[in-house]
Amino acid sequence: MSERYPKSAALFARARKVIPGGIYGHVTPAATVPGAMPSFAVEGRGCRYRDADGNEFIDFMCGYGPMLLGYHHPEVEAAAAEARARGSAFNHPTELTVALAEALVARIDFADWAVFAKNGSDLTTWAVQVAREATGRRKVLKVRGAYHGTHAWCSPGHGGLLAEDRAHVAEFAWNDEAALEDLFRRHRDDVAAVIVTPFHHPAYADSAEPSAGFVAAVNRLCAAHGALLVLDDVRCFPRLHLGGSHLAYGWRPDLAVYCKAIGNGHPLAACVGRAGYQATASRVFLTGSYWHDPAPLAAALKVLEVAERENVPARLERTGRRFVEGFLALGEKHGVRLRASGPAAMPYVRVADDPGFQKTQDLCAAAAREGVYIHPHHNWFLGLAHTDEEIDEALARIGRALQMQ
Ligand SMILES: Cc1ncc(COP(=O)(O)O)c(C=O)c1O
Repeated sequence: MSERYPKSAALFARARKVIPGGIYGHVTPAATVPGAMPSFAVEGRGCRYRDADGNEFIDFMCGYGPMLLGYHHPEVEAAAAEARARGSAFNHPTELTVALAEALVARIDFADWAVFAKNGSDLTTWAVQVAREATGRRKVLKVRGAYHGTHAWCSPGHGGLLAEDRAHVAEFAWNDEAALEDLFRRHRDDVAAVIVTPFHHPAYADSAEPSAGFVAAVNRLCAAHGALLVLDDVRCFPRLHLGGSHLAYGWRPDLAVYCKAIGNGHPLAACVGRAGYQATASRVFLTGSYWHDPAPLAAALKVLEVAERENVPARLERTGRRFVEGFLALGEKHGVRLRASGPAAMPYVRVADDPGFQKTQDLCAAAAREGVYIHPHHNWFLGLAHTDEEIDEALARIGRALQMQ
C-alpha cells in the first residue's frame, strides 16, 4: 500500500483523528480492498482521475454513478459556472427550477410535475411520505437487499435505529411475485407503496434484471390494491433510457426518484409524479437550505441536452458490451472463470466460485496497480467519456491484472 498510496495512507491517518471512521459511507476504503486501492482523489478529466499520490486510473465507477458525461464536462461546467456567477442561495428559486421541472415533465412520459432536493435519500423518503399521504395507509413494501438511502426506514446500517423505524416496512425477494402477493394479502388495505429499483443491484452480490412476470405482477398488484409504485431510479437514470429506466423494463411508476447522474456531479435529486398526486405532494413538507441553488439545476438542464444529443443510453450499451465481452474473453484466455451480471451500461463482473469475494478483491487490487478502477462488490458504471480506445486500453491493463491471478 504505502509504496503506491503513501499520501492516501497519510491523509487517511489524519482523517481518522478528526472524522468518525476517517472516511464513511460507500466510499470507505473498507468497502473496496483496503490498502490496495486509493482512498483520496485530486482531479479528473473525461473517464480518468488522479488520486492523491498522482496515480491515474481509467475509471469504471464514475464517482459511483454521477459522472455520466465524464469528469469536468466542458458544456456542463460552463452552464454551472454561468449560473454560479450570478449567485447561489437566494431568498427565492430562480427560473432554472421551473425550467428543469418542465424539461423532466416533457421527457418522462408519466410525469406531470417535479420537485428537487440534493440527495437520493431526501426524495425516496419524501416519495414514501407522499404515498402515505395519498393513501392514508402505512405499509411500504421493499425488496430485500435493495438500497434506497440513509434514512431510518431503509438504512442498511444498524446504529441509532429503532425497531419502530421499520415497523411499517416489509421486505420481499427480488423477482418473487408470489412473496409480494403474499405481503399484499397480509397487509390488506394498509399498503401505501411498493418501492423498487429498475434492476436489482445489491452490494456484495450479482446484479439481477427483473423478469417480465415480476414487472407485470408489481404493476398489477399496485394498481389492484391502490398502492403507489415508487421507482427508485436514483442510480440508473439516464443510463438505461433517456425517458426514465421504467421504459427499459416496463415498470409503470406513480412516482420516480432520480439523482446521481442528473447533474453530472453537481448535487441534485428530483422526484417526478403523476398528475393525480400533485395536490397530495404539495401537502408533504419539503425543503432544504440549498435546494434551489441554480448551478446544479443549470448543470442538469445541460446534462439532459447532451445526453439526448449524444444518445447516451445507446452509446453506453455499446461501449459497455465491448468492455464486458472483452473482460470475459480475457478471463477465458488467462484461465480465470468470471461471471458478469447487470445491464451493459452498469455491469458487474466478478470471479466465479468466489463466495468470500477474496479472488475478486485480488483482481480489483491488481487492476488498480495497472491503473484501472473497478469495484469488487458494487456494480460499475460506463460513461460517455469511455471511448473505444479507452475501453481497449483498460482491457489491455486488465489482461495484465488477470495474468497475475
Ligand atoms: C438506488 C439508490 N437509491 C437511493 C440512494 C441514496 O442516494 P443518496 O446517496 O444520494 O442519498 C442511492 C445511493 O447510492 C441509490 O443507489
